[in-house]
Amino acid sequence: MSLLNIEGGRPLHGTIDVPGSKNSALAIMSAVILTEGTTTLHNVPNVSDTQIKSSILESFGATTEWREGSLFIDCANIHSGDPSEESFRKIRTSFYMLGPLLARVKKVKIPAPGGCKIGARPVDFHLRGLSQMGATIELRDGMYVAEADELTGAEIYLDFPSAGATQHLMTAAVLAKGMTVIKNAAMEPEVTALADFLCRMGAKIEGAGTGEIVVIGKESLDGCDFRVPSDRIQAGTYLLAGAITGGEVTVTGITPDSQGPVVSKLREAGADVTETHDAVTVSAKNRLNGIRIRTMPWPGFPTDIQQPVAAVLALAEGVSTIEETIYESRIGHVSELNRMGANIRVEGGRTSVIQGVDRLQGAQVQASDLRAGAALVLAGLAAEGETTVSNVHFIDRGYENLEANLRHLGAKIERVEDPNQPAKESLA
Ligand code: EPU
Repeated sequence: MSLLNIEGGRPLHGTIDVPGSKNSALAIMSAVILTEGTTTLHNVPNVSDTQIKSSILESFGATTEWREGSLFIDCANIHSGDPSEESFRKIRTSFYMLGPLLARVKKVKIPAPGGCKIGARPVDFHLRGLSQMGATIELRDGMYVAEADELTGAEIYLDFPSAGATQHLMTAAVLAKGMTVIKNAAMEPEVTALADFLCRMGAKIEGAGTGEIVVIGKESLDGCDFRVPSDRIQAGTYLLAGAITGGEVTVTGITPDSQGPVVSKLREAGADVTETHDAVTVSAKNRLNGIRIRTMPWPGFPTDIQQPVAAVLALAEGVSTIEETIYESRIGHVSELNRMGANIRVEGGRTSVIQGVDRLQGAQVQASDLRAGAALVLAGLAAEGETTVSNVHFIDRGYENLEANLRHLGAKIERVEDPNQPAKESLA
């Protein structure tokens, strides 16, 4: 197992060209199943989640090849597969393959999904939507057994604008007979990117990025070339690295809109932010002020930045509060930040009340999940002395070249093997 050693206290300066979006790539890597053609995806981040997803695709008969930063996927010979429960438990989007697999092979048996342990994360919206489209699905011994001779269009209302359910049902609807309407749909940029990808394959979709998506089913789709957009969460994390170290960091290759909520909140806290058509720069010469944040579905403040921003606010002047409304237990970072000298208490299980402190001290801390890991790295960059972050495999799920990028900005960070823990695969 790896550890990250960080010698903190250096203001970060420079520019990061943000890698491709993990969550966009993962959703698109389910949708490729819909075509018998070959799909070429550019800008797929080389992180453990996309590697696992590739191997799951192969277990259903796809061939995949990574070449010079692009991923080539051939789904001509998709079959019902014999997926390993272990790999399905590692990533949540494994489950989003159910709809496209049904569209291709009519009957499929897949293990229940996994993902970061940040809440119960049920899949009831996915199951209800697919049932409305004509699928029969039963849970037997931890496996979903699903069947549908033909998926048919339906009017589906989501009880909550779930990003995953919107992506999954929109994908399944593309080869369904007739029209599907998804109401109270998620508006996340990853939903829009997936719709762009599906339309590039020949799908007919309107309204992606709004609360109502209409899909007109097609008989078949073609393979295509597609560039995965940049990762708004990695981008936000680097901006926070600039802010927490009192430096100046620019992220490029992004749409500034994708940073809207983060930029607004950083400005409110007193950071200087400038934007161009494809870049955002954050500089924080003075100590930031405490602010209130509430995570919400897009275009609200992203839950995936909730933990990283807590590290920044731990050092702000005064009291901050962060209310997590998406997940019921995304607080694994709190006790570890407190080990570093932060003063954070959790109220009602979901609200972090952060009394800003003057300094954080380096400590040995453990990542409990992907974004908790990012929060600890940020804290380590600003802390006095040395911080060692363990459970780095969580961070590897979603940050490409993290140490190299941070070193490029002037950080002192290195990955070492944990002498006390033999190499072990991710259980994320
Ligand atoms: N929910 C249900 N039933 C469902 C589906 C969702 O109750 O059938 C609930 C969830 O339990 C959660 C809320 O709805 O409380 C939102 O979940 P959503 O479905 O929107 O999330 P997701 O699709 O599982 C994706 C990202 C997450 C990101 C969320 C919200 C991927 C692989 N994951 O998850 O990313 O937090 O959307 O934006 O796309 C991360 O990258 O660290 C991460 C957790």
